Amino acid sequence: MLIKRRRGWELPEQEATPESAFLHRRALLGAGMGAMGLGLAGSALLGGRDAARAATADPTSDLYPARRNPTYTPDRDLTPERDAANYNNYYEFGTSKYIAPAAASLKIRPWTVKIDGLVDKPFEIGVDDLIRKVTLEERLYRHRCVEAWSMAVPWTGFPLRDLVALAKPTSDAKYIVMRTFLDRAQAPGQKQFWYPWPYTEGLTLAEATNDLAFLATGIYGKPLGNQFGAPIRLAVPWKYGFKSVKAINQISFTAERPKTFWEGLQASEYGFWANVNPQVPHPRWSQASERVLGTDERRPTLLFNGYGEFVADIYKDLKNERLWA
Ligand code: MTE
Repeated sequence: MLIKRRRGWELPEQEATPESAFLHRRALLGAGMGAMGLGLAGSALLGGRDAARAATADPTSDLYPARRNPTYTPDRDLTPERDAANYNNYYEFGTSKYIAPAAASLKIRPWTVKIDGLVDKPFEIGVDDLIRKVTLEERLYRHRCVEAWSMAVPWTGFPLRDLVALAKPTSDAKYIVMRTFLDRAQAPGQKQFWYPWPYTEGLTLAEATNDLAFLATGIYGKPLGNQFGAPIRLAVPWKYGFKSVKAINQISFTAERPKTFWEGLQASEYGFWANVNPQVPHPRWSQASERVLGTDERRPTLLFNGYGEFVADIYKDLKNERLWA
């Protein structure tokens, strides 16, 4: 049984979640909390064994582990796999952090990714064909959730800009919009009609073509477990974690900035840019420090989550935008 001990200093994350903010608002509106149904399903922690089973079934498992790109070295130890694999946000499968057993039943093959919008020629590609078209590499990235917890994990994947190159956007394209599947039968969270499903995220093309923007297909040297967003998810480590959309099946190029999932629910708290900044508090809690998953440590949060040298330039002419939340 996963027991969550709350220490004096610890942010009550379940209360801090974007989702509970919304539910709180609904409660005030008299809609009640009835839809919150998920508890701690199952009793075993998912870890190496289950992930290994998933990896053998994956048609691209021969590509793992991939060569490590040494450019991005985190300033801390990697989070143990067991901790990262059993503390997830994936609202399609519930609001608890322990959604791994529920997410395990998502059917991730066959899986196609549709590329459309302002591109030379829209197309659909099977995720295995896509993975074999690019060169996979491993990158050690930090991850900072807006709820003030963090981890450092070894993703395997490829730069998002490789996909942008395959898509051939037209000169009118300014944004890239990434969407998750919509399937209420498989994802019970999607029956909660007040969320603007499917989960949608977006980046500017300048952000999407920055080398740090990464499409992850694996973690810990093997294909992604479902709870991490298999078969393909985004990793943009200079932004709060909610930007890193899981289980992507559509990537569209647009001239207009998209309305993202959390923005659609609570624009005053979760904006489009969502770059990490310890000096800009969330309206309901400080962002100055973070709890390091799997440890008792609390660390100061860094501007752009420590990736300023790679990304700060993107924003130098955007001073009037709400870049931080
Ligand atoms: N993607 C989808 N489709 N659904 C989600 O609920 N949650 C986001 C992001 N991507 C989410 C998602 C949030 S809030 C975070 S912090 C990260 O996924 C968590 O990633 P992890 O579970 O791999 O740590």
